[in-house]
Amino acid sequence: MQTKILLSEDRIPKRWYNIIPDMPGPLAPVINPRTLQPVTPDDMLAIFPMPLIEQEVSTERWIEIPDEVRQIYRLWRPSPVYRAHRLEKALGTPARIYYKYEGGSPAGSHKPNSAIPQAYYNKISGTRRIATETGAGQWGSSIALACQMFGLECTVYMVKVSFGQKPYRKSMMQLWGAEVIASPSDRTHSGRSILERDPENQGSLGIAISEAVEDAAGRADTCYALGSVLNHVCLHQTIIGQEAKEQLALAGDYPDVVIGCHGGGSNFAGIAFPFAADKAAGKNVRIVAMEPASCPTLTKGVYAFDFGDTARMAPISKMYTLGHDFMPPGIHAGGLRYHGASPLVSQLVDAGVVEARAVPQNTCFDAAVAFSRTEGIIPAPESSHAIRGAIDEALRAREEGKEKTILFCLSGHGHVDMAAYDAYFSGKLEDFEYPEAAIKESLSHLPDVKL
Ligand SMILES: Cc1ncc(COP(=O)(O)O)c(C=O)c1O
Repeated sequence: MQTKILLSEDRIPKRWYNIIPDMPGPLAPVINPRTLQPVTPDDMLAIFPMPLIEQEVSTERWIEIPDEVRQIYRLWRPSPVYRAHRLEKALGTPARIYYKYEGGSPAGSHKPNSAIPQAYYNKISGTRRIATETGAGQWGSSIALACQMFGLECTVYMVKVSFGQKPYRKSMMQLWGAEVIASPSDRTHSGRSILERDPENQGSLGIAISEAVEDAAGRADTCYALGSVLNHVCLHQTIIGQEAKEQLALAGDYPDVVIGCHGGGSNFAGIAFPFAADKAAGKNVRIVAMEPASCPTLTKGVYAFDFGDTARMAPISKMYTLGHDFMPPGIHAGGLRYHGASPLVSQLVDAGVVEARAVPQNTCFDAAVAFSRTEGIIPAPESSHAIRGAIDEALRAREEGKEKTILFCLSGHGHVDMAAYDAYFSGKLEDFEYPEAAIKESLSHLPDVKL
């Protein structure tokens, strides 16, 4: 009855797994938002350091993790895999449920797995300052920590609704030395133009990205960092799935289904891509992305070229999108409120390698409470979507009387998200309907990319 499956520090992966050579087809080009032509490395150099641009387009299957990064990973990696014995018992399921817990990092989620290498590559490339955005504050606190470790300055544009809902995330960023600005702000042209039209605007990830990109593009000493979506971010997160595969092997098991919550796609890619490689090689494994019904990018969006941000400054990618000016409702799983998705995850969904499901937030909190009461750990609201998916699979196994192995990524803890639990317990948590009309309107503004 082993509960924690642990690896020693020398088992921290030495290489990131790059899924690009194993994708089901060629990647769509990334498009320059001004010229509507494929981006060149020079376009990207205005906001990213060269090593990250190289990783973004690399076709090498394995990419070495620098020692300086592995040294810092040692603070929380390898992360544990838990067998959810108590949850299984409470559900009365014949399924074996495992979860890979990423909440033990200093910031409390998977996000430092990419923040640390991003800060490292910026540092060795001569960057002095990083501008970035954050939704719920998990990415902002992770990059603040990473910048502190490598001696970089850091400015974080934080989506205004989260700035109000999660004041302690702001304090964490300040503690690690970052400047935090509620977005939309008057610091940038894109922020000011939104506030002129709508002074009460509560912000979105798309707007905060515009502000951070504008900030970085306008200063020679500053680069931009993104906590999800991009290929190199998904790449860095693959240490999650690599470790998990080894841990399940130690338990003599292999998943029938792998589940992750999906915002921009990075923790999902992290747990899923190493298993997608097995699937491409003929293994029978289902891979499921869980997203909020109020921001149903993968399930109700279209697979098309779209801007990564609201002000149309970020590159255009082919991805599932709800439209770059779609303003999702202010749900508590703030890290899942993004109009787009990782182009890699999108292509896998389009090719049928990955399944996607959308779930309303109250059912996710039901799952999070059931999980906390059995397993003890209080999940981040984002992660509760993966728990919902895992519990539903386990209940189906019970109905079918079938044994099944379920692995999910518990991407973070919810210690700084207790306001969301308060709202749930006091019955104030609303389930927003899929805002069909708003999405239809937003989808009518997609860029006209002709290649
Ligand atoms: C705990 C947690 N899980 C998941 C996500 C979603 O991001 P991604 O899809 O990049 O993993 C976030 C984003 O902030 C998060 O904080």
